[in-house]
Amino acid sequence: MTEKSNILNSTSSKTWSGRFNEPVAELVKQYTASVGFDYRLAEYDIQGSLAHASMLGAQGIISQEDVARIEQGLEEILEEIRKGEFTWLLDLEDVHLNIEKRLTDKIGDAGKRLHTGRSRNDQVATDIRLWLRAMVDDAVGRIRKLQQSLVDLAEQHADTVMPGFTHLQVAQPVTFGHHLLAYFEMLQRDAERFIDARKRINRLPLGAAALAGTSYPIDRERVARELGFDAVCENSLDAVSDRDFAIEFTAAASLLMTHLSRLSEELILWSSPRFGFIDIADRFCTGSSIMPQKKNPDVPELVRGKTGRVNGHLVALLTLMKSQPLAYNKDNQEDKEPLFDTVDTLLVTLEIYADMLRGIKVDKDAMRLAAAEGFATATDLADYLVKKGMPFRDAHEVVALAVRHAVEQKCDLADLPLPQLQVFSNQIAEDVYEVLTLEGSLASRNHRGGTAPAQVREALKRARALLG
Ligand code: ARG
Repeated sequence: MTEKSNILNSTSSKTWSGRFNEPVAELVKQYTASVGFDYRLAEYDIQGSLAHASMLGAQGIISQEDVARIEQGLEEILEEIRKGEFTWLLDLEDVHLNIEKRLTDKIGDAGKRLHTGRSRNDQVATDIRLWLRAMVDDAVGRIRKLQQSLVDLAEQHADTVMPGFTHLQVAQPVTFGHHLLAYFEMLQRDAERFIDARKRINRLPLGAAALAGTSYPIDRERVARELGFDAVCENSLDAVSDRDFAIEFTAAASLLMTHLSRLSEELILWSSPRFGFIDIADRFCTGSSIMPQKKNPDVPELVRGKTGRVNGHLVALLTLMKSQPLAYNKDNQEDKEPLFDTVDTLLVTLEIYADMLRGIKVDKDAMRLAAAEGFATATDLADYLVKKGMPFRDAHEVVALAVRHAVEQKCDLADLPLPQLQVFSNQIAEDVYEVLTLEGSLASRNHRGGTAPAQVREALKRARALLG
């Protein structure tokens, strides 16, 4: 796509100049122009124009000769844009007027007929929807790749023990594979949200014209079909003015980034020598300019930071839409930069993340040691006593006392000899050590959604089936 440097600030006549007594002030021109960013909708603008022109021809609103000239001209312009040879003029305000002017320069009156029965209001709404639809498809493809990375890593660690945390305190042992698959689930819902939002994105605004529709005998269904929209927008005022579909997309992006910020936070903690659970490949880290020993997890830190940026875009779009009277208002031009930046941030984050997960090395011993140190099987001891007939609340208290004793002895529950354990309850027998081990604890959580290695393997099968 064309670089911004191709945008010239030259003088030329304005589209609506006949109505005005003086030219637009230079600063106002810069303030109101959107070509500096909406040029990236160019391919979609041309796609929309081609469908519109072909419909105008089929309906006899313009001649087939004009349609042929418009098609030829737009194809040439598309080539110029793709080659980076197109010159964008700030005077022509936005992507739509730039392309239309170029077309008219090329083909004369036929170019001036393209805008029959259309307004930039329904044109821009169409362009954004076409563009965003493509971005949704791209994002979903990248989510799938990231899910694949998670599944691959989880597969290697279906049996790897780690401490599961609540309040960031060791709670109960879990398998690392189970932990990773929690993020698979979050991403699955994220993908579903995008796919669902796509249904509402994929409606055609064209035909709404400026706000009220048009007096030409247009065929909106034909244009919708040609552009691959599921249906037309039902109300012209709504079609040109609402940007809820962009807000919805950004909300889904925000949630996805939020999920990745959680995983990022964990990667940062786990890679710190205080945890020492994982090593992030060097290509995702940087050093310090002053401290030679440092290896900083920059990528997960930036993902965490960029989540704030995307959340900000969501709030910007909501605030942009709030209180706008029907129908189109220039405010809506401000939808593009937040939306573009959301997409850019999201797509690159997904790509880099999928690769980063492939480069993670796991220190199983460190994970196991941490799980063994935190009385992670205390709940298992309580459950053991319950199964022997003790009410759960009493068992909870018995185990609390046993843990206190172990803390004093500076050892784990499993290190206490049987007679010492029996001081707390005479129900405790030799078989207690089966539940006090990490493997015993893991294996016992053997139901759908549980952390037992056997269940992780079942979950992996389901995940792989979903990925197809
Ligand atoms: N550049 C404008 C936008 O992004 C296009 C629509 C302008 N319509 C208008 N009546 N000024 O929304």
